[in-house]
Amino acid sequence: MYPRSFADGDGDGMGDLSGITGRLPHLVDLGVDAVWLTPFYPSPGFDHGYDVADYRGVDPAHGSLDHFDVLVTEAHRLGLRVIIDIVPNHTSSHHPWFREAVADPSSPRRDYYLWRDPAPDGGPPHNVVSFFGGSAWAPDPGGSGQYYCHLFLPEQPDLDWSNPAVLDEFDAILTFWCERGVDGFRIDVANSLTKDPWFRDNPQLRTTEGVADPIDLFLCFEHRYDIDQNSNVAVFRRWNRLVAGHGALLLGEVGLVDPVRLARYHDQGAAIHRTFYLEPPGWRWEPLRLRDGIRGFHLASPGSVAWTIDNHDSARSASRFGGGDRGRLRSLTVTTLMAGLGGMLFLWQGQELGLENGVIAPEDLTDPISTRNPGATAGRDVTRTPMPWDDGPNNGFTTAGRAWLHAQPRDPADTVAGQRGVEGSWLERHRRLLVLRREHPELWTEPLQWLDTDAGLLMTYRRGDTIVTANLDEYPTTLPLPPGAWTVAFSSDNGTHEPTGSAIEVPPETALVVVPST
Ligand code: NOJ
Repeated sequence: MYPRSFADGDGDGMGDLSGITGRLPHLVDLGVDAVWLTPFYPSPGFDHGYDVADYRGVDPAHGSLDHFDVLVTEAHRLGLRVIIDIVPNHTSSHHPWFREAVADPSSPRRDYYLWRDPAPDGGPPHNVVSFFGGSAWAPDPGGSGQYYCHLFLPEQPDLDWSNPAVLDEFDAILTFWCERGVDGFRIDVANSLTKDPWFRDNPQLRTTEGVADPIDLFLCFEHRYDIDQNSNVAVFRRWNRLVAGHGALLLGEVGLVDPVRLARYHDQGAAIHRTFYLEPPGWRWEPLRLRDGIRGFHLASPGSVAWTIDNHDSARSASRFGGGDRGRLRSLTVTTLMAGLGGMLFLWQGQELGLENGVIAPEDLTDPISTRNPGATAGRDVTRTPMPWDDGPNNGFTTAGRAWLHAQPRDPADTVAGQRGVEGSWLERHRRLLVLRREHPELWTEPLQWLDTDAGLLMTYRRGDTIVTANLDEYPTTLPLPPGAWTVAFSSDNGTHEPTGSAIEVPPETALVVVPST
């Protein structure tokens, strides 16, 4: 969940920790086991909290450490685990370390960051570009003439992970939160911490002329020297040993497209425990890519992938997959397929309601990707609009006149209150799917066997006596069943489907969970 947008407990228009605590029962009803909170630390908010000014606090806009303790205690009482976000690649430019590094270039804090002299023409020292647009090098605000590296905003200076003092600082930060009772850490841009020591230029693949969108600019280069350096994994081996004593989970945001390179970050359990597979949240409805990507990542890292099709950085899958009920069905179909693959399954707040993108007037956009890059494609605000709880003002998110991110109200049928207990609603279908995972533990305990069929877009696997099949095609497809009597325990389209003879027809873009009839 995105604390800014989940629930506002104190009525100022901004989501906060007490709001989350009050809404935990929704997560329990839904049947989730754990919640991941994106950053709530003190922050000037240039990247809505991913620019951290103090790794051991709570931003007053979201509450206090006392509110955090209450949240954790209440979550644990309800049987939910709490995963927090840790942002080690960069700090905020307002962090005392960076302020000191700028104010006094002879201070040991200077070496917490990556400084380089300018290129001979006085410009940036290397050609590395920022994920958020333009060069990843900004001039020292202290006027030394040097540049510092920022893979994201200039207000997010990158730390130097070759400096042992930085490693020590983060050991202490992780320990602080473990001792406060957190159950795990989602590691922001885990594959970008260490950089090429010489910071060589990345090979350029095509011209950058006229390229306005930051992601398109990023794709103009081969990222040989800025991301996914082999030395990254050593950091997480160290963290793995550190959190082991606390029983905490390391969950990595590792944005790689190569399943073999991603698997290095697990290091067979010795580094990051679970890593997100982040291509699906970026895709439109592209069945072949989904089929090959999901299967490829599952085979490379069985049991270690964190599966998701939605998160706080991507347009909502229901919209990307075509919108309307068709987009929603496709979204739940892929989720159903992912639900039995092992590892972890993540839902993004509002996905359980089948939400499409929020509608925001151009002047109300807040994401720096939109506001700082005229001509860029839609930023991330569309997925971060306030959670719709009911059909009251601001859909029950806040009692303030206006939420921090102002968007068109949601239809009552798209709210939690409008779907709870309504047979066949998207909320009830997601809940049913999660209940099913509990009713059939073999979905995560028994070995997984892919069942190949001749139908190219039918993805089917079996775990113990449970069969999960997803038809990604726009035509119905027939799945042959093993001998025995079978019944359908779940269907993403909420229809009634039964086998005929020794086969079952799987409707278009629908997933079924098939179990032995008792
Ligand atoms: C990935 C996070 O998910 C995103 O929201 C953030 O802007 C960047 N990392 C930078 O921290």
